[in-house]
Amino acid sequence: MWDILMEKLKHVKVYTLADNLVGVPGLQGQWGLSMLLEVVDGKGEAHKIVFDTGGDKRLLMHNIERLKLNLKDVEAIVLSHAHRDHTSSIVEIVSSTGGVRVYAHPHLFLPKFRINPQGRKEGVGVPEDEGLENIERAGGEVILSAEPMEVLPGCWTTGEITRTSFEDLSPPMGGGKWTIVIDGVEREDRILDDQALLLDVEGVGPIIVAGCSHAGVVNTLIQAKRTWGFERIHGLIGGMHLLQRPDNYIEKTLDALREFRPSLLSPCHCTGFKAMAMLWREFPEAFVLNFCGRVLETGRSPEPRIF
Ligand SMILES: [Fe+2]
Ligand SMILES: [Fe+2]
Repeated sequence: MWDILMEKLKHVKVYTLADNLVGVPGLQGQWGLSMLLEVVDGKGEAHKIVFDTGGDKRLLMHNIERLKLNLKDVEAIVLSHAHRDHTSSIVEIVSSTGGVRVYAHPHLFLPKFRINPQGRKEGVGVPEDEGLENIERAGGEVILSAEPMEVLPGCWTTGEITRTSFEDLSPPMGGGKWTIVIDGVEREDRILDDQALLLDVEGVGPIIVAGCSHAGVVNTLIQAKRTWGFERIHGLIGGMHLLQRPDNYIEKTLDALREFRPSLLSPCHCTGFKAMAMLWREFPEAFVLNFCGRVLETGRSPEPRIF
């Protein structure tokens, strides 16, 4: 058990750059996730972080251009896990900056596959042209750790998430299994690389940004609570991976979420429409639909909350 004292941020603004849904004319959707975080630290200094890099570079870069966002001063990229709907534009984002730190779990760059029910194998991990060498050549400094990492004062990765709740790892869509090659041996992949990002904002509370939540969204919150001592959270933004889960599984998730008393729940990507609808019914005050072009900012009520 860690006991980390986290500094506070003064302000956070989150732009959704890539998502399955689109909510702003001119942007393009894709199966994938990427967000830009603009934060102001305790000293009043501004910083930018890119969280995940989508599944289609052309569409991601199109959206960044349409939103007129400048990535030159991005300081860090945080990768939630290896799946290529989150890691397809690492090099492009690094190249758009003046050199960045890239944070990930040690499993992130290992070969990963999905084996479908017919036994066919397909690569699901970081695409070949987005590998370690390519990132370093583009100016990225890759930092791998299974422990929580301080990206900026007030902004941490959760590190590898301990699985303690009722949640279990869901199989790939369409069935089959996940595998990973570690030290030359292919074995079942429990997606231990899955991690989230934590931002603690003064007077607001903790905000958690999740990629796919393969470790389980409840496990992610429990990890944050255990590591930083949070009793409640302000916000949970991102993919909650409740796709294809039965109603009673989603209900258990809602019960667990209620204990964290969130003021902002903004699901997207792999959350699934049924789970989104159930989240909206259960947390009508907190629910804010997320999509490409969504901007969430502390101290400002998002409009529209839902279409
Ligand atoms: Fe994933
Ligand atoms: Fe995903």
